Amino acid sequence: MIHTPEHINTINPYVPGKPIEELERELGIAGSIKLASNENPIGPSPLAIKALRKGMNDLNRYPDGSCYYLRQALSESLQVKPEEIIFGNGSNEIIELAVRTFLVPGDEAIMAHPSFVVYSTIVQAVQGKNIIVPLKDWRHDLQEMVSRITKKTKLVFIANPNNPTGTINTRTEMNAFMEKVPEGVLVVVDEAYYEYVTDSEYADSMQYFRKGRNILILRTFSKIYGLAGLRIGYGTAGAEIIAAMNRVRQPFNINSLAQKAAVAALRDEKHLAKTKLVNEKGKKYLYKNLDALKIAYVPTDANFIYIHLKDKTAPQIYDSLLKKGVIIRPMGNNAIRVTIGLPEENKRFIETMETVVRL
Ligand SMILES: Cc1ncc(COP(=O)(O)O)c(C=O)c1O
Repeated sequence: MIHTPEHINTINPYVPGKPIEELERELGIAGSIKLASNENPIGPSPLAIKALRKGMNDLNRYPDGSCYYLRQALSESLQVKPEEIIFGNGSNEIIELAVRTFLVPGDEAIMAHPSFVVYSTIVQAVQGKNIIVPLKDWRHDLQEMVSRITKKTKLVFIANPNNPTGTINTRTEMNAFMEKVPEGVLVVVDEAYYEYVTDSEYADSMQYFRKGRNILILRTFSKIYGLAGLRIGYGTAGAEIIAAMNRVRQPFNINSLAQKAAVAALRDEKHLAKTKLVNEKGKKYLYKNLDALKIAYVPTDANFIYIHLKDKTAPQIYDSLLKKGVIIRPMGNNAIRVTIGLPEENKRFIETMETVVRL
């Protein structure tokens, strides 16, 4: 028997959103919709698809381990040096790289709850200690988070906007937080939904990076760029931080098709604008109809909405929606998270929800 260490045995495995094919196979139904994983409902950028078709001819070759063209393109658009960027197999991998690079057993990482669950999983996997700070008014309580920093703290995770609540932290809150963070702590600002934000108070994390602060900013091609299936994300930080993480990174972690698609998607302003428009319209539609159903929700700056339900009804409502071919995400006993979809998907969600909450 292989012995699995206790700190691995006690990790709660990540439960991904149920794939449509799996649901339909299990229930013998067709025409289901998935609003569970905050994916882009309009599909990938058409320019990316074109680049992928062309790129297929070179699949016999290893990818470019440095992601040269994508690095150049991003360095230009972000106005940072090429050596201040790191790529990951999804921003998930960069979270893992940061933890594996900077945390040793017994070190502490501070994060909010509920927030993106991957932070705590990886910290536990390397025998770090998770310091969990509950959200306040559905937003990161940055004051409390900074007060929990000790000599053992190596990382602080801030998802801005936060998943699952879609809330942001403001410039004023972040300024106050950053003023108090000591030198030896790396602040990881996870901006997976950055491009969707409309709130003018949203904190510009790049300004801290430009001031030379210890900050790692994460973004992804999985959400607004519609390339979740290709797995590619990026991080921006000072060159020393990136160089340290590169020691841990696998040499060919970004496949060649993902690199080519990402370069094309970055330039596809039309696709970006259309995605934002679909999201904004969908958001308004869902707000209006949830209000009409007297269902409470947290206003969002992302492409999903956190919905409150009556006590302990969330698992039931998730199941009932599933049986009717609508896949959303249960969030404990009292809430669900729904991705903003295409107009017809949003309509189907509301209509199904109406029948389900009445039960
Ligand atoms: C807050 C947040 N960070 C990071 C990720 C990881 O995204 P990816 O690995 O696809 O870039 C997600 C995905 O849902 C997320 O919600």
